[in-house]
Amino acid sequence: MTDDRKLTEEVLRAYAAAPDPRLRELTAALIRHLHAFAAETRLTHREWMAGLEFLTAVGQLCDDQRQEFVLLSDVLGLSAQVDNANAAAGATEPTVLGPFYRPGAPHRAPGEHVGRPEDGDATLIKGRVTDTSGQPIAGATLDVWQCSANGLYDTQDPDQPPFNLRGIFTTAADGGYVFRTVRPVSYPIPVDGPVGDLLRAAGRHNWRASHVHAIVAAAGYEPVTTHIFDAENEYLRSDAVFGVRDSLVRAFRPAGPDDPADVRFVVDADFALAPAG
Ligand SMILES: [Fe+2]
Repeated sequence: MTDDRKLTEEVLRAYAAAPDPRLRELTAALIRHLHAFAAETRLTHREWMAGLEFLTAVGQLCDDQRQEFVLLSDVLGLSAQVDNANAAAGATEPTVLGPFYRPGAPHRAPGEHVGRPEDGDATLIKGRVTDTSGQPIAGATLDVWQCSANGLYDTQDPDQPPFNLRGIFTTAADGGYVFRTVRPVSYPIPVDGPVGDLLRAAGRHNWRASHVHAIVAAAGYEPVTTHIFDAENEYLRSDAVFGVRDSLVRAFRPAGPDDPADVRFVVDADFALAPAG
């Protein structure tokens, strides 16, 4: 056995008696992967210290308004990997919650507009919430939020009223829902911190594919945190946080003569929820 391997085994043994079995499993896997990372890359002392200083800077930027660790997890694809690991079979695919969710959005009537005319092109979004066998779920809620035409959420923009472009809609007896919003635009994730340094060093851009956020929930079902993506967006294949799933991409079709006259685009988006496990 190599010295590397002997050391790893010794460290694993030191943590093997943790009484909590899940903590034991997570700690063991973390130790194995961290040791393998250092061995595989022949990590130098300078690089090890630079990594620790980077993580320190990430932590020092975190406060009530800013979560640089979530951003780091997002740009490394870890958040997306956790979403994948927790996706329920047959249900709408989950994707990142992101940093701009705000609880307590107002409950709105079917068809209501969540924003203002200056937020962008009026868009009707409609569909059904069903279980994984296609049976409608009445009384399901869609908590939706998105940015305005300037790429900012209400929480970032003092010119927007509180809860602008946010709302909770409830499905009817047939599982149907409908609301008005605006066609979303792409926005940049913050690059004024260590995560920005990482993106620049990697030659990556910091744009998100345009999207409407939704948390779809119903009593007795697993809630899904997801997005509706615009099929015509230029960042679909290079989303900064790896949030795009093909199954979540929707056409924003121009409104026709059979659609309400006050909207420019119409989107059909159904959601499926799995039973609570
Ligand atoms: Fe977002």
